[in-house]
Amino acid sequence: MKSLVPLYGLLGIALAGVPMVGVGAEQTSNDVEMINLAQSSGCVTCHSIAAGGKGPNGLKPIGPAWQKVAEKYRGRPEAKQELTQTVLKGSSPYQSHWKGEVSGVAMPPNSAVLNEEQADQLVGWILHLAD
Ligand code: HEC
Repeated sequence: MKSLVPLYGLLGIALAGVPMVGVGAEQTSNDVEMINLAQSSGCVTCHSIAAGGKGPNGLKPIGPAWQKVAEKYRGRPEAKQELTQTVLKGSSPYQSHWKGEVSGVAMPPNSAVLNEEQADQLVGWILHLAD
C-alpha cells in the first residue's frame, strides 16, 4: 500500500486524508486516469474524493464525498449499475439519497460530458475508495 497524496498534489487537488488506494503501478495509472476523468467531466465541482470536504463558504459539500459513497454502498454489488445510471441521467430531487448530508438538492445529468463506459469505469473506481 502506498499513499497517493503526491499524485493528487501534482493534479492540484486538495485531498487531506485521502484513503490509500492502489497496490501497484497499474493501479496508480488507473487512479490518475480516473481523477483526470472526474476533473474533465466537472464532477469535482460538486464532489470531493476524501470525506470531510466542505462546500463553498464552509457549507455542507454540494454532493457527497466519494469516499462516503463507497461506504454507503459497500457490499451492494447492484450499486455499480444503479449509480452509473444516476450519474448519466441525474438524480431525483424527490428521492434524495443524501438529504441533510449535502447542500445540493439533486445531481444534474452528466451524459453530455461522459459516456456510459466512462461513467461505469468512474463509478467502479469510486466504489472502491473506502476499501
Ligand atoms: C452540479 C453538482 C454535481 C455534479 C457536477 C456532479 N454531481 Fe454527483 N451528486 C451531486 C449531488 C447533489 C448528489 C446527491 C444526490 C442525492 O442526494 O441523491 C450527487 C450524488 C452522486 C453519487 C451518489 C448517488 C446516489 O444515489 O447515492 C455519485 C456516485 C455521483 N454523484 C457521482 C458523480 C460523478 C461521477 C460526476 C461527474 C461525471 C458527478 N457526480 C457530478 C451533485 C453533482
